[in-house]
Formats: sequence, C-alpha cells, structure tokens
Amino acid sequence: METRIIKCDTEAFQPECVREAAACLHAGGLVAFPTETVYGLGGDGLNPEAAGKIYAAKGRPSDNPLILHIAEKDSVNMVAEEVSDKAWLLMERFWPGPLTLVLKKKPTVPAETTGGLNTVAVRMPSHPVALELIRQSGVCVAAPSANASGRPSPSKASHVYEDLKGKIDYILDGGSVDIGIESTIVDMTGTVPAILRPGYITPEQIEAAIGKVEFDPAVFSAATDIKPKAPGMKYTHYAPKGTLSIVEGDREAVVRRICAMVEEKQAAGYKVGVLAARETADRYRADTVLTIGCRAEPVTMAARLYACLREFDEEGTEFMYSEAFGGDSLGNAIMNRLLKAAGHRVIYAEKKPAEGLSCREQ
Ligand code: TXA
Ligand code: MG
Repeated sequence: METRIIKCDTEAFQPECVREAAACLHAGGLVAFPTETVYGLGGDGLNPEAAGKIYAAKGRPSDNPLILHIAEKDSVNMVAEEVSDKAWLLMERFWPGPLTLVLKKKPTVPAETTGGLNTVAVRMPSHPVALELIRQSGVCVAAPSANASGRPSPSKASHVYEDLKGKIDYILDGGSVDIGIESTIVDMTGTVPAILRPGYITPEQIEAAIGKVEFDPAVFSAATDIKPKAPGMKYTHYAPKGTLSIVEGDREAVVRRICAMVEEKQAAGYKVGVLAARETADRYRADTVLTIGCRAEPVTMAARLYACLREFDEEGTEFMYSEAFGGDSLGNAIMNRLLKAAGHRVIYAEKKPAEGLSCREQ
C-alpha cells in the first residue's frame, strides 16, 4: 500500500487539506494525524474491521484498548453511558485538550476497540487538524499513538513514516506537536477517580476541578505483580533499541557517575549516548550527547523526549545514560515514560536508597 503524505499548515489551517483523508477514514481506511500530544493513528472506532487494521499496522497486542477521539463534547453520549457529573466537570474544564476519560462503554463500541473491556477511553483533542478530520470523517476516531508497538511515540510526521510507511493510507503532516507526551488518562468508573497515566494535565488541576483523585498503584512501580488498569502501561513502551539506564542522585554525583560509565563503555568499544538537561549537557563527552530541555521548564523536556530516544536509535547507540528529571507533575509524567523506556533500570549515583526502593536499583 502506498502511504500518502499531505501537508496541513497548522498556522494558516485550510479545512480542505483533510478532505481526502477524512473520506478514507469514513470508508474504513487508516490515517495518521497530529494532535496536541503526539501523532495518532486513526481508524473508525465503531467499525471492528477498521479497529483490527490499526492493531495489525502497529503490531499492537489485541488486549490493549484504543482511545476514541471525538470533536464535540456531546458525542461522548454516543459511546459511553452513566457519565457522572464529575466526568462532565472534567470535560467542561479540560476539553478540547490532553485529557482522556475512561467511562462505562455503550454496546455500540465493539470489543475490538476496547480490547474486550466493558469501559471505553474517550478524548476530545484540541489540535485543529485532528478536530477537522474527526468532523469531516463523521466517525468516532479510534487512535493510538502512531508508532510501531514498543517504539517511542511520534512527535512529528517523519517518525510516523519511519514506523508505518506502506501500512497506512495517509499521514497528515502538521509539523511538530506541541506537548510531546500522551494525554493524562483518568478512570472515572470507580468510587474515586484514578489517574492511569500521568500527562500534561496534572493531578492538582484535576483535584481543583473535582476533588480527590488517586494514582493507579502501577504508574510509578517497577513491580511486575501489580497489574495496571490501563493495559498498555504494562508493556516496555517507548523503548530505544540500545540499553537505557537512568542515573539518580545529587546533580554533581550524577554527572561524575555518568562520565565514569561512559568512559568504561567506550573503552570496551561500545557506542554510548547521554541524555541530559541543558544545565549540565556540556559536562559530558560521549558519542552522542542529547539535550532534552531545561529543568526549569519541564514543557521543553516533554516536547523533545521521544525525538531524543529516536535519535539515539538513528546514531546506533548501544548504551544510553539519562539524568533523572522530575520535580513537578509534568516532570513526573516525563519520568514515568523514561522509566518505562529504561525497563526501570535505575542506577544510584552515590549510596543506596532507603529500604523499600531497592527494586529500582540496578
Ligand atoms: O495523547 C494521547 O492519548 C494519544 C493521542 C494520539 O491521542 N493516544 C495514545 O493512545 O496515547 P495509546 O493507544 O498509545 O495509549 C492509550 C492508553 C493505553 O495504555 C491503553 O491501554 C489505555 O490508554 N486505555 C485505552 N482504553 C482503556 C480503557 N477502557 N481502560 C483503561 N485503559 C485504557
Ligand atoms: Mg502509545
């Protein structure tokens, strides 16, 4: 299959640029498109055959459900039932935007889309290309991130092309995305709403809108016996091809420890990379040193995270060491992705951490 790329200028957006792709979606085809978080791979989410094609193109396990993307808040009633007042409050406050709600599904949503669950994840994106595509297609658009399963999520059209060329009908190229990490997912089906995946919308913002929320215990844990409520969170996601380790501790100690490990691996003949914040990036000498962004501005780090992981692959990097980031809620969302990319391999720059954290030791 030929994958056609259509440029959609986001600044001077022309609704006509999505017309062909929208018709293709309507007819059961697959279209990758930009959202404010990452690129999505869209198909008609109420059409089991189209949903099946999404799993096949990505090589995605069929028990990992898809998020349905809608262009109007009221469309939630087409796919979900028992939508609570708290859920409506969140929709009013954060839609369109990077928040996904897990709700009880209506029978119209096929098991192929929800991985057999009786709940459905729904989000209304804010990107003009995404909204226009959904509107013109006239369907609820099921869209996982548009990467091959296990690869870092795509933050630009060329990443999608790398992973999915020849497997999908269209890529709408809207340039680089804004945020760079996937939406916050909140499960609204329990007594207390639970964050299943952290993202740009913070727990503090959600609590300000609806009161108490909790975290799914699996979000920051390396333990394999805790089953995440978002099935996709159990996979070693976002992983680069080489071995990534995260180094935690006092900033100076981290720099020293990374430099020592880089030297050791280079001496053994390996290609080595370092992922660092702008504040410390010039302290490293490795085959590839990538600056993720400024610690003081976590949005800059979110925007480059996945592109950096892909760049290490392009350079053929065999061992990568990343500083630990974190700090505020967005920093934590970045760390959640990095920990998964590293398969929870964490090295402590100085002494061992307190009891109970030892599972994160290398
Ligand atoms: O920002 C985003 O959310 C992007 C853009 C394209 O919208 N989409 C995205 O989709 O990240 P995906 O498929 O890569 O991740 C969806 C996550 C998976 O971890 C999946 O298991 C979880 O959402 N999920 C989907 N439906 C669910 C449900 N009914 N209950 C619990 N988790 C669900
Ligand atoms: Mg994904």
